[in-house]
Amino acid sequence: MTTEASRGHFSSRIGFIMAAAGSAVGLGNVWGFPTKVAENGGAAFILMYLAMVFVLAFPMLVAELTIGRYGQGNPVTSLRRVWRNNRFAPIVFGALALLAASLILSFYSIVAGWLVAFAAEPLATAVGADGLAAWLTEFSQPRNVIMTLLFSLMTIWVVSKGVADGIEKWSTRLMPILFVLFAGMIIYILMQEGAMDGLRVYLVPDFSHLNGRLIVDAMGQAFFSLSLGVGSMMVYGSYLKKDINLPKVATQVAIIDTSVAFAAGLLIIPAMFVAKHNGVEIFNAAGELISSGDLVFQVLPSMFHTMGSSGPVIAVVFFVLMVIAALTSSISILEVPVACAQDELGMSRQASSWLIGLLIAVASVVICLNFGALFGLVIDISTVYMQPLLGIIWAVVVGWVWHRNELLKELQQGNPEIADGWFWKIWPWYVRFICPVAIVAVMFVSIS
Ligand code: PFF
Repeated sequence: MTTEASRGHFSSRIGFIMAAAGSAVGLGNVWGFPTKVAENGGAAFILMYLAMVFVLAFPMLVAELTIGRYGQGNPVTSLRRVWRNNRFAPIVFGALALLAASLILSFYSIVAGWLVAFAAEPLATAVGADGLAAWLTEFSQPRNVIMTLLFSLMTIWVVSKGVADGIEKWSTRLMPILFVLFAGMIIYILMQEGAMDGLRVYLVPDFSHLNGRLIVDAMGQAFFSLSLGVGSMMVYGSYLKKDINLPKVATQVAIIDTSVAFAAGLLIIPAMFVAKHNGVEIFNAAGELISSGDLVFQVLPSMFHTMGSSGPVIAVVFFVLMVIAALTSSISILEVPVACAQDELGMSRQASSWLIGLLIAVASVVICLNFGALFGLVIDISTVYMQPLLGIIWAVVVGWVWHRNELLKELQQGNPEIADGWFWKIWPWYVRFICPVAIVAVMFVSIS
């Protein structure tokens, strides 16, 4: 077993915030959020999403970080320390979290692989390798497999470097680049013809869309976006020093994640209307917005092609931005099983990162080779069923299993006055009653 002293730690508070925000900010923000907004009545969805982050996701984020820091380990180890009188539950639920993390990573790497391909395409075109450029953007098994493996190798390489030298260092480098690229892209897009129509769709609420489905979508999106359920935040919490104020850092991470999601909408939705202005179709025959996958991989590239000489540069910047967002998330997902192999089996970080990373890469390849049957299925199993189910388990652990005084003691370490504030008066009840009931409701509506 790894001792506490030999476990990695984030070297600074800002390093942790960048890593956790890096985990949270991913394809869910730059791709999922904007398209859900566009499909669900613009700002009506944004308002519901904000409510869900505040009511459901933020309390769960604090819960997961707290379990991780208290338990000083991956989901199995941490649960065992909290749930002392039950031998089996920690293993069963911890293993479920590892499985969910592995499944999420297996499809996430495929999508991220496409993004790598689309980032490389303008470069291939620029050097006259037209055959390669076409291969990169056309859907094919060899392209999917090679690009997925390429992205998997990047993820494994960062994770194998460790907590401070790999995850923290790369998140702290990549996240500011992401913010700057984002800001530059937004300014550029908003200056293009047609952008204001998109801005109107994004920011003017259409409350006629407000229904059960919108609420469910907003909850699911908030849950996925804050990387909840599968143990990423728990493991990151376990690398946090004890003098850190958990609710405060959770607030900062949630604010960054939500701001980036909002900024992504400011970029993508006006970009769609710029594309429309340039003659690219963004609505299908039924007048509905083209679906999210096609949006990123067809609408936006067509828009870049209409932009003259600056188009290829903008395209590379855009897709590099997406790859960065995906990489800082994928490392947080691979870290879950890797931390478990280290804590539970005493494996070295190098060995566990490569072994588990490659095993998950093999799973990705299997999905690529059986794409029609497996891709959607794996996404559904991991995000629609397993993630919320695990969320319920963590809420029950914090709200019902864990002794209130011990919970308070853990939170007091970084915030001695917490017992007197409003947070401690509300949060334990929230996690005990509201969160499990709300998640069950989401699952019920989304499955039925
Ligand atoms: N939060 C990431 C996103 O929005 O793309 C996805 C994610 C990362 C989900 C880590 C789950 C996880 F454990």
